[in-house]
Amino acid sequence: MCGIIGYTGRRSAAGLIIGGLRRLEYRGYDSFGVATKPDDGGIAVFKKSGRISENECALDDLSGHHGIGHTRWATHGIPDDRNAHPHMDCRDEIAIVHNGIIENFAHLKKDLEGRGHTFRSDTDTEVVAHLIEEHFSGDLFEAVRMAVKDLEGTYALLVIAGGDGRLIAARNSSPLVLGVGDGEMFAASDLAPLLEHTERVIFLEDGDIAALSPGGVEICHAGKAVTRGVERVAWRLDDVHLGGFAHYMLKEIFEQPQVFFETFRAPVSDAVAHAVSRADNISVVACGSSYHAGLTFAYLAESLCGLPVRVWQASEYRYYPPPLPGSAGAGLVVAVTQSGETADTLAALKQAKAHNLRTLAITNVPGSSVTRIADSTYLMRAGPEISVAATKSFIAQLAACMRILTRLCGNSFDEVISRAHIAIGEALLTDVSDAVAICASAASVFFVGRGPFYPAALEGALKMKEITYIHAEGYAAGELKHGPFALLTPDTPAIALCMPGATHGVMLSNIKEMKARGAPVIGVGVKGDAELAEVVDVFIPVPETEEVLQVLTATVVLQLLAYHTALALDRDIDKPRNLAKSVTVE
Ligand code: F6R
Repeated sequence: MCGIIGYTGRRSAAGLIIGGLRRLEYRGYDSFGVATKPDDGGIAVFKKSGRISENECALDDLSGHHGIGHTRWATHGIPDDRNAHPHMDCRDEIAIVHNGIIENFAHLKKDLEGRGHTFRSDTDTEVVAHLIEEHFSGDLFEAVRMAVKDLEGTYALLVIAGGDGRLIAARNSSPLVLGVGDGEMFAASDLAPLLEHTERVIFLEDGDIAALSPGGVEICHAGKAVTRGVERVAWRLDDVHLGGFAHYMLKEIFEQPQVFFETFRAPVSDAVAHAVSRADNISVVACGSSYHAGLTFAYLAESLCGLPVRVWQASEYRYYPPPLPGSAGAGLVVAVTQSGETADTLAALKQAKAHNLRTLAITNVPGSSVTRIADSTYLMRAGPEISVAATKSFIAQLAACMRILTRLCGNSFDEVISRAHIAIGEALLTDVSDAVAICASAASVFFVGRGPFYPAALEGALKMKEITYIHAEGYAAGELKHGPFALLTPDTPAIALCMPGATHGVMLSNIKEMKARGAPVIGVGVKGDAELAEVVDVFIPVPETEEVLQVLTATVVLQLLAYHTALALDRDIDKPRNLAKSVTVE
């Protein structure tokens, strides 16, 4: 959830690290900090609660060509200056930044305090600085290697010390990637801050400890020197620039035609094709928007291919009783995760493997943890998603799912889906202003749909609540009268997804029922649907297209509705309060 970055090379470290932290802020943004190693010795630190953009950074005091930085999403200790990283040892000679959770920190802290160490924060992380101090006698690599032996939990660590010229990186179940430059080296939680400096990267494995110096890196695993390959990343620098858009979310919404096209057309490896064609049932494990993509996949797989699919919130899969012996058959467990780092999804996948189930990952991030756990990976082509709210990655997940469906049930609807990017492009032109005016003053908004539009309603509600802070709920339209009707008033508009097909008639009845209880209804339907236009307060027409593509166009319209409502309410759209993009804690 937190973002970390480190640098060693010929350039001044502090400005480069602050620039990198700005790119990482979507991982957490309640405090930040930088430590450098000035050429005249010691460690210089600046740390502060709040966002980088809201703070003046005293970079003049942070000289040196070697440093680390952190942007935080608080887990242990409130977000204040004291708890901001970097954390230091007692003598202020060692500075560390950490992403992850040290589960045995309370026990370690008590022990270290007993040995005379003084703590200055409430974080779990600070114990690591003191543990390294215990082992440090001039060789920082060795001190880190000894210290991590005592740690239980997850960590990506970057460490510098006044008495050692190297930057040390250590990884266990938290993402950490190294960037290889010319006479300089980088380390970061993800690729975003590296793209403007290098396209050559090394993905560390769990258990790796690396010593970075301007000329290169030495990596050790289980006490032995190892070599990790240098890979080239296909992501472009343009992907992390706003490119004239007011927000990343809007930019990413408008990238969706291209993203769908590229993901649907991405090569399917033999391993993925084999895994999919052998499956006689599928379990999807995912969280949040990715879970909604899984629900859509289940509907399409069962209705179009006759393949049973069960969809799990990954956090529940973990604690559910194991599959009954023999019940899984030739089952395939598919983890859907944009970041490839969501703790619950990774744990669910590990659990599936422990039960000898075959696994497949659908993810957006090359080299992410899920790609190391799953038997095979379908890599989406969405490029980096910066806005905290998932948009283009959701559309890419649907593209990947649809591609898998064409493998499962032949290419019968390949041609239809190959027009999807056109339909998505047309939906981007939809005018949602009348609906925005209603939603922006609402106390609560309901999103309802049936069949494949039920997951779309769930996703629409999630987008609305996370970026506007308006209470929003997604419901299967038929369920509303089993309780939630009690909440309907003129202040609780309902967004009804009423597309042509089997559910159109019953949706019209549901809309009338909601209106009879006083709720204003905004209907999303196809152009020319006079019946729908007549019964709703606001009609949002989208271009008519095949049912499977209407799921995509409806999704785009709901993304635009959430975005423009948040804009009208002057919300912090790309960084909504309390959230972080990559949820690496349970
Ligand atoms: C919502 C959103 C989250 C993520 C969820 C899973 O807009 O972004 O609900 O979908 O945290 O994240 P990934 O897909 O990275 O596993």
